[in-house]
Amino acid sequence: MKIENVIKKFNRKKIYLCPKCLSESYIENISLVCDDNHRYDFSKKGYIHLINNYKPTKYSEELFMARNEVFSNGFYTNVLKNIQNLVGKYAKDIVLDIGCGEGYYIKELKTVFPEKYFYGLDNSKDAIELAVKEDKLNPYMVANLANLPFKDGSVSCILNILTPANYEEFFRVLGDNGYLIKIIPNANYLREIRELIGGKEYTNSDTVKLIEDNCTVVDRITVSDTFKLTKEQAQNFLKMTPLTFSKVIAADDINKLKEITIDLELLVCKK
Ligand SMILES: C[S@@+](CC[C@H](N)C(=O)[O-])C[C@H]1O[C@@H](n2cnc3c(N)ncnc32)[C@H](O)[C@@H]1O
Ligand SMILES: [Zn+2]
Repeated sequence: MKIENVIKKFNRKKIYLCPKCLSESYIENISLVCDDNHRYDFSKKGYIHLINNYKPTKYSEELFMARNEVFSNGFYTNVLKNIQNLVGKYAKDIVLDIGCGEGYYIKELKTVFPEKYFYGLDNSKDAIELAVKEDKLNPYMVANLANLPFKDGSVSCILNILTPANYEEFFRVLGDNGYLIKIIPNANYLREIRELIGGKEYTNSDTVKLIEDNCTVVDRITVSDTFKLTKEQAQNFLKMTPLTFSKVIAADDINKLKEITIDLELLVCKK
């Protein structure tokens, strides 16, 4: 991608912070630069890398490619439709998808809301490199959710989908008027995989308590569906989840996984 087309995707208003010294940063030529001259170059691949001393994470290219297949098979279409309604209701101009992975949600959202900026942030370079291959419109950043390169109150909405949160940092960039759309698993989410690998039953009560301790929940939706799986789809589901991070996926596991449940809670939160 031509570097000027990469830069065009990024809003030019004074909204950025230097990831190193946290002072104001601005776009100058092919870089994001601060007054102390800390300089981060945009990549021709289509994104900007803002993590100093980057180390690869456990989230691999293989996991994101499997997620990509799962999304294109439509298993999360209902989740997307509900997020779309919430974004229409709660988001204004600048939206961050924190832990965006391979970019499925913001790629789709941009087609419905072309006037909004959807920034994809993830601390996995593999995720961001996959995202920019498929999505030429949205701006992407390799960045850490604990150190967001945005000024206080500069963002109208954060999407945080099946990804850890840092509430202090999120509400710093959201300010008093912004909304956090936080999506967490319910007890039955991927239940069939948990049963297959002999995992414990799951409850989200600790996560919900943490959310309620840190914010005010203003809206809440449950999305729940169970789907039949082909073998290929079963294999992709087994590869796409951190539940199988330390497991070897055997042919037998793929054969046994006949159905999958998507059971998620969408919570809209304010400071
Ligand atoms: C389970 S995946 C969900 C990805 C995407 N939101 C989705 O629903 O497909 C969790 C994501 O969070 C990202 N992540 C984990 N820790 C992070 C951090 N500290 N900063 C930024 N991203 C992080 C991972 O790289 C991964 O893409
Ligand atoms: Zn700096």
